[in-house]
Amino acid sequence: MIIAIDGPAAAGKGTLARRLAAHFKLPYLDTGLLYRATGRRVLDAGGDPSDPAVAESAARSLSAEDTQRSDLRGPEADRAASQVASIPAVRAALLDFQRSFGRTHGAVLDGRDIGTVIFPDAEVKLYVTASAEARGMRRWKELQARGVEADLATVTTEIRERDEADLARSAAPLMAAPDATRIDTTELDADAAFARAMEIVGAKTK
Ligand code: DC
Repeated sequence: MIIAIDGPAAAGKGTLARRLAAHFKLPYLDTGLLYRATGRRVLDAGGDPSDPAVAESAARSLSAEDTQRSDLRGPEADRAASQVASIPAVRAALLDFQRSFGRTHGAVLDGRDIGTVIFPDAEVKLYVTASAEARGMRRWKELQARGVEADLATVTTEIRERDEADLARSAAPLMAAPDATRIDTTELDADAAFARAMEIVGAKTK
């Protein structure tokens, strides 16, 4: 079974994906990490994440260790990830890895184009979203919990800007697949979102 979860930043995709993966004993892939690690490699080499040739080469030489680095989150990594993610050659370079991850044992994958491009035939497609204010607040609380000083208004503005870039790009933009079921987590906590997702999975797989 493939469960594809798409949606904007900080909507609760990762938490939900991890819980579904644990419940169904499926492997989980946070595909955002692939773009984050690609952006980080470009920054490390002193390159420009919006340069297609440099970014493609970083994506092609990505290793598993790159996605386990501890410096893949934060404003600089967020921006670099969004920049490399808008480059078609980068997306093409990362496509096979994502498909083969899910093909053998099934998987839960979260990202922006899982239900539209990576696994258009996924058994279950969820589009997880929430208001920008709720998402800004969640990301701000995550930063606080990690001891990172941040301003709520700035965090919310950065989330909005990244969503706009992810929605507006021509290469695999953030989009709900026509057959995806929407879960708005503005008023839902993690348990309620999981319960709703389980209802949807149950209905799709019966
Ligand atoms: O989910 P995230 O915030 O870790 O994603 C980081 C960036 O990568 C974000 O700007 C969107 C982009 N991304 C993408 O374009 N396609 C995916 N499947 C996953 C992430």
